[in-house]
Amino acid sequence: MENPRREEAEVFADWAEAVRKLKKKRNAVILAHLYQRPEIQEVADFVGDSLQLAQQAAGTDADVIVFCGVHFMAESAAILSPEKIVLLSDSRAGCPMAGMITAEALHRRKAEIPGVQVVTYVNSPAAVKAESDICCTSANAVKVVAALSADRPVLFVPDQNLGRWVSRQTGRELLLWPGYCPAHDSLTVEDIVQAQAAHPRARVIVHPECRPEVTDRADYVASTTGLVKYAVESEVNTFIVGTEEGILHQLTKQAPRKEFFLASQNLVCPDMKLTDLPKLVRCLETMRPRITVLPEIREKALAALERMLNLT
Ligand code: 13P
Ligand code: SF4
Repeated sequence: MENPRREEAEVFADWAEAVRKLKKKRNAVILAHLYQRPEIQEVADFVGDSLQLAQQAAGTDADVIVFCGVHFMAESAAILSPEKIVLLSDSRAGCPMAGMITAEALHRRKAEIPGVQVVTYVNSPAAVKAESDICCTSANAVKVVAALSADRPVLFVPDQNLGRWVSRQTGRELLLWPGYCPAHDSLTVEDIVQAQAAHPRARVIVHPECRPEVTDRADYVASTTGLVKYAVESEVNTFIVGTEEGILHQLTKQAPRKEFFLASQNLVCPDMKLTDLPKLVRCLETMRPRITVLPEIREKALAALERMLNLT
C-alpha cells in the first residue's frame, strides 16, 4: 500500500514547484506568517512575525507581494508599498479581532477622552489605523507605549489582553478596547496546569494575546518570532507552547532536538489555515484577489505605521 504521507509530500512538491515558477514569472515575493501551514512556510521567501513581515513589505523590490497570512497583514503591505501589487490567496482570510473595532466606533470613543493618544495594534482594519496616532505589533508594543507622552491618556486598541500585558510591562495606565483573539483568549490557566503536570520540566512560553492570568504563569512572553528565538537559544529542551499551532513548524525546524507541546488543542486560527498551495498557484496565475486601500485612508494609516517603523 502507498504511504499516504509520501503521496502528500509528492503532491506538495508539485504545487511548490508551480509556485516557484510563477513567482519568478511575476517577479513576486512570498511573505508568510509563522501561523501558516508548514508547506506554505516552506515555499515562502520570508517567514516571520507581523513586524518583520511589515518591514519586508516596506523594503522589497519585487513587483508583487503575495501575502500568506490574513487580511490586515496584506492591507498593511498595500499601505506601505502602494506601487506594488499585493495579493492574498483567499480574501476570506480575516482576523476576528480586527473585526471587533470600526473606525466610526473608535472616532466616537476618542471624542470622549480629551487629549487621548491612540495606539493601534496592527491586527486592525486600515480605517482604524487611519484614526490612530501610532501602530504597534506584539514585538514592539512595550517600546511604542513607553515612547508616548506621559502627560496624556493612552487608548490601546483593539486587543485588551495585549493592552493589559503592555500596561504591566510599562507601568502605564492604558484605556482598553474590549477586543481579543479567539484562539489565544481560549487558553486557560487550567490548560497550562494540565500541560505542566504532563511535562514538569518544560518551560512555558506564551504570546501576549493570551489572558493576563495565563501570561502571569508563563516563563516567557513574546511575539511569535520572539518565542522561536527564545526556544532556540534556551539551554532548556522542553517547552509548553501557548500560541497558534502553526509556530510548531519553525520551532521543530530550528530546534530539531527539542520537544514542543501545544498548551491546548484550541490554539488554532482557522483564518490562517485558509491559505494552501493550490490557492497560492491560482492567485499567482490570475493575480487575484488583490488587496488595495483607498488613498484617503492609506495616507493617514501610513503615518501611523511609519511612526511605529521609525521607532523599531
Ligand atoms: P505576531 O506574529 O506579531 O506575534 O502576531 C501574532 C498574531 O496573532 C498575528 O495574527
Ligand atoms: Fe487574528 Fe488571532 Fe488569527 Fe492572529 S491568531 S489572525 S489575532 S484571530
